[in-house]
Amino acid sequence: MAPLAGQAAIVTGAASPIGQATARMLQAEAVSLVLADIDPAAMEAAGWRDGEGCATLVADLSQQEGAVALVALALERFGRLDILVNNAGGGVIRPFLKQSPKTLHATLDRNLWTCIWMCHAALPAMVERGYGRIVNVGADSVRNGLLAHAAYNAAKGGMHGLTTGLAREFAEQDITVNTVAPAMVRTPFVERETAAGNPFIKEFIDVIPKRRAAEPDEVASMIVHLARPESGFVTGQVMSVNGGSAML
Ligand SMILES: NC(=O)c1ccc[n+]([C@@H]2O[C@H](COP(=O)([O-])OP(=O)(O)OC[C@H]3O[C@@H](n4cnc5c(N)ncnc54)[C@H](O)[C@@H]3O)[C@@H](O)[C@H]2O)c1
Repeated sequence: MAPLAGQAAIVTGAASPIGQATARMLQAEAVSLVLADIDPAAMEAAGWRDGEGCATLVADLSQQEGAVALVALALERFGRLDILVNNAGGGVIRPFLKQSPKTLHATLDRNLWTCIWMCHAALPAMVERGYGRIVNVGADSVRNGLLAHAAYNAAKGGMHGLTTGLAREFAEQDITVNTVAPAMVRTPFVERETAAGNPFIKEFIDVIPKRRAAEPDEVASMIVHLARPESGFVTGQVMSVNGGSAML
């Protein structure tokens, strides 16, 4: 297997559990990291600071300027951009009629607009070099219509659609575009909600044959797999990491 060492990767939503797990796996393979999140306190808590082999940015990536600044940072610090992991997101998970204009816009901004602007900003540099691996973090709930996920699925479904369109458009430049679609992942948020007796959590676990949430590392390993040079013939795919909650 060709080493990833020396490549440069952007990971968005780097303060989140899946973002942290992904960035640490890439770091363990000596990939230069360009990490961004909208939440400065969470970045600090995650221990992400500028240093050798690591550039950080606090920015709202649902805005074009934030995305452009992040790609510029990667090119300025490391002179290349091989991997883009669009992991920023997070849902306002509630029944559709309980969503407000604010929560609907927030859901679309966090999950879909961040991904659109990051792809738009990163692709020119990838096209120029004739190489790129884009991995989006979508959601398995798009496939099984999970309870209270309509707005979130609209956003993640848009991301899944962007994946197939971009995969076709940039296939000949050796740029792959794939989505990793997790079912429920064991994050501090999920643990808090479970402890608080949120009735939705049981519903979400009940549809998973493995009867548990995924660990962040179990999602990150699929992301890193798709980011490898050897995964170059896999493109336009939505890879579920779902404990069997949807099959085929
Ligand atoms: N946890 C789960 O059960 C689960 C299931 C399916 C998909 N996902 C997806 O996995 C990804 C990571 O989720 P997680 O559960 O690890 O934590 P999370 O949902 O808290 O992570 C989202 C991260 O994105 C950042 N973010 C949000 N909007 C942003 C913006 N405009 N600009 C920059 N950063 C922004 C947040 O600050 C946060 O750190 C998200 O896209 C989430 O939707 C999570």
